[in-house]
Amino acid sequence: MCDSIQRVRTRFARSVPRGAKSPECATSPQQVTSFGRCGTPIANGDAPKTEVNTMQSNDTNQTPSSDSCGHSPLPADSGSPCSGLQDACSGTSASEAERLLMDSLSSDHLIHRLMTEHSEIRQNLEQLELLAEELAAPARAREEILSDIGHNATKLIGAEPHHQREEEVLFPEMANRGVFGPPEVMTAEHVTLRALKHAIQEGASTLSADSDIPTDELIRNANELVFQLRNHIFKENNILYPMALGTIRDAADWADLASRADAY
Ligand SMILES: [Fe+2]
Repeated sequence: MCDSIQRVRTRFARSVPRGAKSPECATSPQQVTSFGRCGTPIANGDAPKTEVNTMQSNDTNQTPSSDSCGHSPLPADSGSPCSGLQDACSGTSASEAERLLMDSLSSDHLIHRLMTEHSEIRQNLEQLELLAEELAAPARAREEILSDIGHNATKLIGAEPHHQREEEVLFPEMANRGVFGPPEVMTAEHVTLRALKHAIQEGASTLSADSDIPTDELIRNANELVFQLRNHIFKENNILYPMALGTIRDAADWADLASRADAY
């Protein structure tokens, strides 16, 4: 394994600044969207721009350039992930790079499926964010808001098969091909995210049973989940999935992965 994997892991783990709209565009995935086959970064400017739609092919027209391991760059740099909607970098909606990536993949491709599932999760997060705001200054019965938050948390917990498809199918395949750090970071984040989802579900239930319990902790957990999960999805869509597409190049392998992912 390349010595610089740890550096990639450190950079990959860096969070998009909370609440920021544009400043993070200068510091986030854009700087780490080109990777060598072992996952090592290639400095901006070293790697040639490559069209997103070459990601799913066995295209060999890339201009040779080397990462620190001497590997060719992967076609992961499709331009700035911050070039789409105004709030794309804060993870509230799909960036232009994400839309281009999805358009380049067939609907039965595993990465397309995972990104579609991310869109559904983002919609649930949008609702949770509004519910947390509402709970802080209720304009309707607190019990109703808590009930809606409980249902929202249940839906987010229901996305567990998505995480299993990543942890049990995609990430091991990347590890088999020498990419370890980013999948490990994402798996660790899944653990934190699961705990937050369950804390919100239990909090909504507990507060519903006792109207004297303050809502502060539940609101804090909801906002934390919204922030962390948006950030997590942004990193997967804009860094890890392009890295996977650059690492796993055979269409038959992707078909096999998609089939195995159906088990979850
Ligand atoms: Fe995911």
